[in-house]
Amino acid sequence: MKGVIFNLFEDFVCEGFGDDTYEAILDEADLQTEGPFVGPGLYPDADLLELVGRTIARLGIPLPDALRAFGRFALPRLVASHPDFADSTMTAKEFLVSVDGVIHVEVQKLFPDAITPRLVCEDAGPDRLVMTYRSERGFCHLVEGFLDGVSDHFGTKIDYHQSSCAHDGADACRFELGFSDGAA
Ligand code: HEM
Repeated sequence: MKGVIFNLFEDFVCEGFGDDTYEAILDEADLQTEGPFVGPGLYPDADLLELVGRTIARLGIPLPDALRAFGRFALPRLVASHPDFADSTMTAKEFLVSVDGVIHVEVQKLFPDAITPRLVCEDAGPDRLVMTYRSERGFCHLVEGFLDGVSDHFGTKIDYHQSSCAHDGADACRFELGFSDGAA
């Protein structure tokens, strides 16, 4: 996983729970990486999972809730560091449709060693979308957090539910989305 994601996770813990909490997590974590995580670097997924695991144990938060909260925190920051991906004329739905074929493609060009997930969208009506998530990482709760972050960023309410999940043996995680105007 790219260092930029580790850096966002550090910011998430520091801003929400304090620098001391992050330092304590770092001290007790059994990491393969020695030294700091830098944005363009590539680090083992196991190190991110170790940091997340120590965080949820220390704070007593269930893993799905932690991944959702982290996704919601991270999305506006990812958008802010790549403003061209979400111009002011775009809707939340158009933005989500562009993730797989544009945003993550550009991310792969910038960081050829990144492994971005597949997020295929099917238009299911004017205010609806079906999004299918496929990744070896199985981070569907992170997808939910990203959806909450998109809702915050665009001021569009996004109702979603997962109609199938790879954790239950499905071939992919499928999200049924509905969009409506007004702050979420
Ligand atoms: C400006 C917008 C975005 C940028 C710049 C961005 C960039 C990235 C980057 C750099 C990674 C790390 C890949 C790696 O280290 O191997 C990543 C992973 C990921 N992205 Fe995006 N992303 C954006 C929007 C989204 C959105 C809107 C979603 C979902 C609705 C999404 C879903 C994910 C997921 C779930 C992962 C974790 C890896 C996995 O599950 O395999 N991203 N993205």
